[in-house]
Amino acid sequence: MGVLKSRIGSAIVTTLLILVLLVGTVGYIGWYNLLREVDTYIESPAEHFKYGSIGTENDQGVPYWIWEVLPRLFPEHLPGPNGYTSLGFTWEEGKETPVGVSKKTIGFPRQGITCAVCHSATYRKAPEDIPTVVPAGPSVKFNSLGYVRFLKACAQDPRFTADYILPEIEYNHKLSVLDKLLYRFLIIPSTQKAMLEQGTSFDWTDSRPDWGPGRIDPFNPVKFGMLEIPVDDTIGNSDMMSLWNQKQHQGFALHWDGLETSLTETVNTGALGDGATRKSINIAGLERVEKYISELDPPTFPFPVDEVLAAKGSQVFENSCAACHALGGERTGTVIPLAEIGTDRHRLDMWTEEAADKYNNFAEGYDYDFDQLRKTDGYLAVALDGLWLRAPYLHNGSVPNLQDLLNSPDQRPQVFYRGYDVYDPHLMGFVSTGSPAQQSGFRYETQLPGNSSQGHLYGTTLAAEDKKALIEYLKTL
Ligand code: HEC
Ligand code: HEC
Repeated sequence: MGVLKSRIGSAIVTTLLILVLLVGTVGYIGWYNLLREVDTYIESPAEHFKYGSIGTENDQGVPYWIWEVLPRLFPEHLPGPNGYTSLGFTWEEGKETPVGVSKKTIGFPRQGITCAVCHSATYRKAPEDIPTVVPAGPSVKFNSLGYVRFLKACAQDPRFTADYILPEIEYNHKLSVLDKLLYRFLIIPSTQKAMLEQGTSFDWTDSRPDWGPGRIDPFNPVKFGMLEIPVDDTIGNSDMMSLWNQKQHQGFALHWDGLETSLTETVNTGALGDGATRKSINIAGLERVEKYISELDPPTFPFPVDEVLAAKGSQVFENSCAACHALGGERTGTVIPLAEIGTDRHRLDMWTEEAADKYNNFAEGYDYDFDQLRKTDGYLAVALDGLWLRAPYLHNGSVPNLQDLLNSPDQRPQVFYRGYDVYDPHLMGFVSTGSPAQQSGFRYETQLPGNSSQGHLYGTTLAAEDKKALIEYLKTL
């Protein structure tokens, strides 16, 4: 009896052991293939800024192998030929991903967005040139809303199935039997669901003027998504900003309306806005980004400058602009009330006291925090460093070049094309008229809500030769 009992006992123990091993093995395989995070470290600060993970892959990253084949499988959902390039992504020679796209293995390779997708400029001196990439400059080409809509259209396409997608992936990569099973039954269906959900969460944009390339509504997605504030009818369309030279901006408010006063918090909200979660946000990686943009000098004007004329222009600047725009100017980096500056009010009205309060409570209990978001009553008198590459101008990108900004609002263009990155050194802005700009650019109409080019009348009554000298000086900033 006793012997039998102990035999049964040891059989039970053995079965249990086998079960534990099996479950453990399956668990391990599952973890390894779906969740295992492989940290990547990119040594160069500039490369890290462009390609390094900031923690956006976990929640909103598309599995890399799927992301790679989408333009080939669904070209009709893109705005033009040449794959992701038609959405304003730029590939540097020899790089696997475009500027602003990271690749990280979390179980399987996933794609993520970095700060550089919006915060890296390109320009060409002539149409036949290869674009020069300038990290931390504002992108004029990246079409963020177009990208979200592309992913949604792919996910809605009835052909978004394993049978259609897997052979295309296998064209690039050898898949194991396990890979194929995981992609077929788990990764492809859950990616489709996530892309649809993400796309649908932007449906409110359908009833408002398009962002177009180089612009986003920076905080409405955050308000309606992360902060769970009911959808309202505000329009926050705003131009990308440059990030260089932050060491010279100490004490300045940040964002077009100065809704933040801490650079660290602005950097971290940038990552959350890009799709990092409170848990996945890569704080160490972002500290490196902050250091990089603090120390980075603005790019110098890549065309000849008339030094004598510029010296004359510096006097005009001193008299008309320095109080608000010189580094060390009395009002530089502070918010100028809307009643005084008179530019389009939509972007300002998009941000609310309620949103600021909610954001300030958003990361309680984490080892980073938000305390300095606020509601203001105007727009920031920004520093003008690297100004030449920041066209089109004003917070909504409504004025194509500096020549136009120095004209009175009724003489500024009411329709122009933005997103074409060939530079005009005389007007100080990107070419915004004519057929090449029209063909590859986005038609910007200033009469649409949020797009007005009114206000900022400074310098508009200067004599023609003073304007010319001032523009020459502004090239040197
Ligand atoms: C999808 C595009 C996009 C991405 C990605 C993005 N930003 Fe921005 N960023 C913007 C826009 C647009 C503004 C201006 C928004 C406004 O205030 O209206 C801005 C403003 C800023 C500012 C304020 C600059 C100043 O001088 O006031 C900082 C700093 C900043 N971003 C840092 C970051 C960092 C760091 C990341 C990555 C973690 C990031 N951003 C990711 C679009 C983006
Ligand atoms: C009273 C303060 C004040 C004065 C004076 C002033 N500006 Fe501005 N400037 C602002 C504010 C505020 C903004 C942001 C307005 C907006 O985007 O709605 C701005 C924006 C700009 C921009 C756009 C920057 C960008 O990145 O798009 C340029 C360029 C500019 N100013 C040039 C000038 C010049 C040149 C002068 C002198 C002729 C001048 N400003 C005088 C307050 C001022």
